[in-house]
Amino acid sequence: MRPETRVVHAGRDPQSNFGIVNPPIYRASTILFPTMAEFDARHARRYTNRTSYGMNGTPTTFALAEAVSELSGARHAIMVSSGLAAITLTLTALLKQGDHILVPDSVYGPTRVFCTSVLTRLGVDAKFYDPLIGPGIADLVRETTRVVYVESPGSHTFEVQDVPAIAAAAHARRAIVVMDNTWATPLNFRAFEHGVDVEVQAGTKYLAGHSDLLLGTIVTQDDLLLRTIKDGVAAFGDCVAPDVCYEALRGLRTLAVRLRHQERSALAIASWLAQRPEVRRVLHPALASDPGHALWKRDFLGASSLFSVLLRTESERAVAAMVEGTRLFKIGASFGGFESLMIPARATDNRTERPWHESGTLLRLHVGLEAVEDLTADLEDGLARLATS
Ligand SMILES: Cc1ncc(COP(=O)(O)O)c(C=O)c1O
Repeated sequence: MRPETRVVHAGRDPQSNFGIVNPPIYRASTILFPTMAEFDARHARRYTNRTSYGMNGTPTTFALAEAVSELSGARHAIMVSSGLAAITLTLTALLKQGDHILVPDSVYGPTRVFCTSVLTRLGVDAKFYDPLIGPGIADLVRETTRVVYVESPGSHTFEVQDVPAIAAAAHARRAIVVMDNTWATPLNFRAFEHGVDVEVQAGTKYLAGHSDLLLGTIVTQDDLLLRTIKDGVAAFGDCVAPDVCYEALRGLRTLAVRLRHQERSALAIASWLAQRPEVRRVLHPALASDPGHALWKRDFLGASSLFSVLLRTESERAVAAMVEGTRLFKIGASFGGFESLMIPARATDNRTERPWHESGTLLRLHVGLEAVEDLTADLEDGLARLATS
């Protein structure tokens, strides 16, 4: 079955729920057991999709987990309270004092902060690497390297990483490859076919798709990694409410059509922006002019609708006039919802291994489900304000 079909059917079994199409919301803290022996065995049940205590999930959580793992072509998924929690709980579960982790310099900002603050405080040696290093990462992987982290394309700057080459170098030293696959989603990047061991996503974004919930997903093929990460998540008491899982499942059903529509619109807008005199360049791997285009074409099955544009101007006043006056592109964090967004991209500020030297102002755009003509007109007016401010 193609992924477009899977997102419609995965995690649903109407006949086990009175024929109801959507898995119902099961709310629970307490779960009752018929015998003392079964009560005593409840902790082991959390490794399988069976109820043990509300914190470990109810059938609504399991339905979402099943759908998410099936979409990724994997065997196990863990649902947590946010995308950032998926990242931090996975890394905390896998790393211990004395371990080394390699993280791309273009990583999502809060992941960077987590590595330099919490992981460092726990005695983990967190080192950043040039996201474009490719097979050269072999020189950085040590005996103590436990995790090689990838995020492709990079946050705000959209560098495409050579994930298969990085994974091969990591595996040669028995390191675990963890990937943030939020941008592409499993529809556009098949993480496990490219050597990834643990795929994390902010389900908040495209999977849920409606800007109204927070969700993190952790997916793996490996039974031992599942147990290690599940124990780690349980130790922190993190969980996601069944109501949120229900809403996420609702969003997931339309992921494929939303994503394909947004991909097309974003590419049209990116191509239009690339021709504008106010624009120095557009950072979007699906554009033939993008430095990461060849790798993107080799490994990805499509693009999403998040990219950056480098404006020639460095005038904050002119950029504010552009961004604050738009009718459709609103100022706001996050992406993956149905509405268009635009924010100044600041992720370049703290880089160490691949410093950002390009002049101009970087804006990150998220293209929603509005008509391309309306979005382009909104940007055209914005660029006119930029030029006259
Ligand atoms: C690439 C990436 N990963 C993870 C996250 C974290 O997601 P959440 O907002 O659900 O914590 C974000 C949020 O913007 C993101 O852009």
